[in-house]
Amino acid sequence: MKNKEELIDKYFKPNFKSAIQRKDKVEYLDYQANLAYTNLGKNLHYLIFTYGCIGNSADSETIKGILDSANFQETKNEHEADIFILNTCAIREGAEDRVWGELGRLKKYLIFKPQIIFILAGCMSQEENTIKKVLAKYNHVDIILGTHNLYKILDYLHVVLTSHEKVIEVFSYEGAVFAHLPKKRLNNFKVFVEIMFGCDEFCTYCIVPYTRGKERSRKKEDILEEITRLIENGAMEVNLLGQNVNSYGKDLYENYSFGDLLQDIARLHIPRIRFMTSHPHDLDLKTILAIKNHPQVMPHFHLPVQSGSNHILQKMNRHYTKEEYIDLVTTLRQYVPKISITTDIIVGFAGEQEADFLETIDLVKKVGFDGAYTFMYSVREGTPAAKFSEQVDNKIKNQRLQVLMAMTNEGSLSKNLSMVGHYYPVLVESISNKGNLLCGYTPDYRLVNFAGSDQLIGKIVQVKIIKAKTWFLLGELDEQP
Ligand code: 5AD
Ligand code: SF4
Repeated sequence: MKNKEELIDKYFKPNFKSAIQRKDKVEYLDYQANLAYTNLGKNLHYLIFTYGCIGNSADSETIKGILDSANFQETKNEHEADIFILNTCAIREGAEDRVWGELGRLKKYLIFKPQIIFILAGCMSQEENTIKKVLAKYNHVDIILGTHNLYKILDYLHVVLTSHEKVIEVFSYEGAVFAHLPKKRLNNFKVFVEIMFGCDEFCTYCIVPYTRGKERSRKKEDILEEITRLIENGAMEVNLLGQNVNSYGKDLYENYSFGDLLQDIARLHIPRIRFMTSHPHDLDLKTILAIKNHPQVMPHFHLPVQSGSNHILQKMNRHYTKEEYIDLVTTLRQYVPKISITTDIIVGFAGEQEADFLETIDLVKKVGFDGAYTFMYSVREGTPAAKFSEQVDNKIKNQRLQVLMAMTNEGSLSKNLSMVGHYYPVLVESISNKGNLLCGYTPDYRLVNFAGSDQLIGKIVQVKIIKAKTWFLLGELDEQP
């Protein structure tokens, strides 16, 4: 086994400085399966833990697709696993702590099965300090790979399985765009399709532009072809993914943007289209019109506002004011009156005074969100805001979070209550974890639980809402044909 410094030097190290320079050209590549690996995974089981956002879930689908192509088998049983893969999230410190805890907990399996392979993948691998920490404290990790090179996972497994060497390879570069990556999807009726990767917004608190690379769009032909195949295979709902879907196409086309893509996908006749996440600064009328004119585009908009204080929005580098955000919501509601609007809000960002927080409270009152994800600001090393003075005390952050959550929860409940007694089409997804009920979402993205046969999974059914809670609705299946 090589010593630690040698290991770090031998392989690429993630590096924020080069990540921010972004001068490499984006490569468009085609994934080619290596036939030499067809049986690499024979008799080997892998278990994958996925943390964080929907982008990571999409990456896990790719990792599974690639592993299955080499005859590895997925398991949910820790005792059966020969390979543990942690597909990690770096967005907040809490997300990272969960991963460190899990790495420590899983180590015990090595006592009975010393040959178990541990793989650390995802956004944490892209951080400068992760490799050092892994080598110092979690030396049982065999492979560290970043977000840009997960397509090479079979090469790395081949090295470990044949030579028992550690592999650490993390690229700090723009990232390529791959066509034809294999994917193992959760089901065939609700599918996730990445339309773009990376982010160029550089909000000052956020690690994503560094861990996920330059904003780069997939070619529209590739996206439309993939969705056409998915529809042939039974897709009822497609979820278009990107860190900033509204800026789709800007890097590739002069005259083709996200609104055009939505229209083209709507013409493929899939019953439901959703997308996330949107940046207020890039939202244009073409996108709003695509939602208005195509009933397949579901009336739900996740539009993170982050703060209601103009001073804080500026420090966050968000490129809009509170007033502009409220105008945008008003326009959305004028064009699509039934639209539900959800958001993300951060409290306790560096320099946030009580008066700034009250601006956020005022914005929440004025907008009346249908739902909100609320977070305490978490300092991310390497981002500009980590160096800002006036960091807010944790106790104050927590107090503000409680006040805000009480308010946004009340907002969700009152919106949910207004749905009681009405009928909605629901795409049935699975059996809920609340007993034997089915669950699925209304067009405006509210979770409904109701009794019914599991034969309905994958179908759209009419459901009458009979009870409202803060986070979900209870319904009754409409048996009428
Ligand atoms: N601290 C707290 N929340 C953050 N988010 C992103 N970075 C941070 C951070 N450093 C939140 C934003 C974003 C959501 C996905 O996570 O609200 O919209
Ligand atoms: Fe992070 Fe801002 Fe990009 Fe969203 S838009 S991923 S918050 S940098």
